[in-house]
Amino acid sequence: MSLTTCTIHTTLKPSKMVYVSNDLARTLHLTNSKNILVRFGSKSFTAPLRVVKKAGLHLYLSILMFNTIKIPRTGNCYVVSTNGKEISLGPLIGIFTSHSGNSLSPFGGRTAFIRQIMRTGNDKSFFVAFGPNDVDWQNETINGYIMRPNGAFVRRTVPLPDVVYNRLSSRKIEKQPSMEGFKERFERRDIPLFNWSFFDKSDVYALLEKDEQFKHVPESVINPSPSKLKEMLQIHRFIYLKPSAGSLGIGIYRVTYHPHRGYFVRYRKNNKNILLRFAKFDDLVRMLGINRGMLGQYVAQQGIRLIEIDNCPIDFRFHMTKNMDDEWVVAAIGAKKAGKGSVTTHIRTGGSLMTPQQVLEQVYGNHAESVLSNAKSTAIRLAEALEQNYQHRLGELGFDLGIDQREQIWMFEANSKPGRSIFKHPSLKAEERASLTNIYEHCLFLSKFRVRRNE
Ligand SMILES: Nc1ncnc2c1ncn2[C@@H]1O[C@H](COP(=O)(O)OP(=O)(O)O)[C@@H](O)[C@H]1O
Ligand SMILES: [Mg+2]
Repeated sequence: MSLTTCTIHTTLKPSKMVYVSNDLARTLHLTNSKNILVRFGSKSFTAPLRVVKKAGLHLYLSILMFNTIKIPRTGNCYVVSTNGKEISLGPLIGIFTSHSGNSLSPFGGRTAFIRQIMRTGNDKSFFVAFGPNDVDWQNETINGYIMRPNGAFVRRTVPLPDVVYNRLSSRKIEKQPSMEGFKERFERRDIPLFNWSFFDKSDVYALLEKDEQFKHVPESVINPSPSKLKEMLQIHRFIYLKPSAGSLGIGIYRVTYHPHRGYFVRYRKNNKNILLRFAKFDDLVRMLGINRGMLGQYVAQQGIRLIEIDNCPIDFRFHMTKNMDDEWVVAAIGAKKAGKGSVTTHIRTGGSLMTPQQVLEQVYGNHAESVLSNAKSTAIRLAEALEQNYQHRLGELGFDLGIDQREQIWMFEANSKPGRSIFKHPSLKAEERASLTNIYEHCLFLSKFRVRRNE
């Protein structure tokens, strides 16, 4: 297999020929006057090949050929040849996410992020962002958004892509019955799609249940009975109640049991931290029952005594990505310090963002480095374990990890569509770029446009 980059041009010459510069022909082991198959995403055509004298790596296609394979622009891209008889241009990377149809900001709050991903590889690859209604399976095309060099989004019809990065942001749309079949249609055409769907917390715990890494999951019970709740409170002294499909800390309760004083419940309501006390367990159950009915499935989870600064618990967001070599790496870590009186560490509830070094040096002094490196290898093992036990591909994960006062590492949740708020921290700019580069390079790997480092 030969892989290189080339510059694609349109030519006004007779439309029957594909012209390649002699440098490009040599690099790809192509020879004159044979027919060549030219592929872009799911589209292809066959035409006679002509090698032309010209320095550099160039490819010339007629407008007709451009239209046949629906290449959205001229300029640079990767080109790969497996046997000297076929070349694939690309990759065409699909970003699956819904949009509003408004071309100034088609992806709402995600627009800047989509632009960042596309900028990462747009000089050598093609990107198309598309929603569930943009695919024409019959014609094998997508009518989605491509990005111009100035950052503007325009709609274009392109072939089905070489790889799909799932960033659908709505749990509701993803849960629609048609969605499984929709995504399977890519896989059936050998188009890898990664990050299949949102995780519910209970899904993640269940995936790890038989794995050695389960030791990092606090004891968790889905929809516990009152007697189970009572038992957990007696054993662990405090527990978290979390909506299994929740996020952003919404609907979370922290319940503490004091043998002589009763049950204390902390939660957030109308932008305020609430603390209630119940002398009797039955009153606690009554209060929770009402709310639980409204919020759907809950997980009761052993409370973990997190490390603290100024009496405020701290936990960590580990942003995990796969890389060019299909390995999990820790792309970035943000430390999150809970706001005073808040049961979670989210910024929206008064939390603050710090670097892991700032936190760990304060808590562990010169032992900080070894705590951090242990947490990193744990996060990698957790990502590997999740992926091994999951029936779909994963390429990116956001773990909420805690370190307890005995230095044990715990995983509270794994997000398959991780948010990017930790990258607001000015010290995490290099990590932000790394997260984008890794995802892009992982797309190169999955679409077989990989630059092989070790071969
Ligand atoms: N079992 C637990 N013990 C201690 N703190 C927890 C526990 N579960 C959650 N938390 C705290 O609450 C935060 C939010 O919990 P998480 O499971 O990430 O839910 P969400 O999906 O709402 O973000 C965590 O980042 C952590 O600070
Ligand atoms: Mg979380």
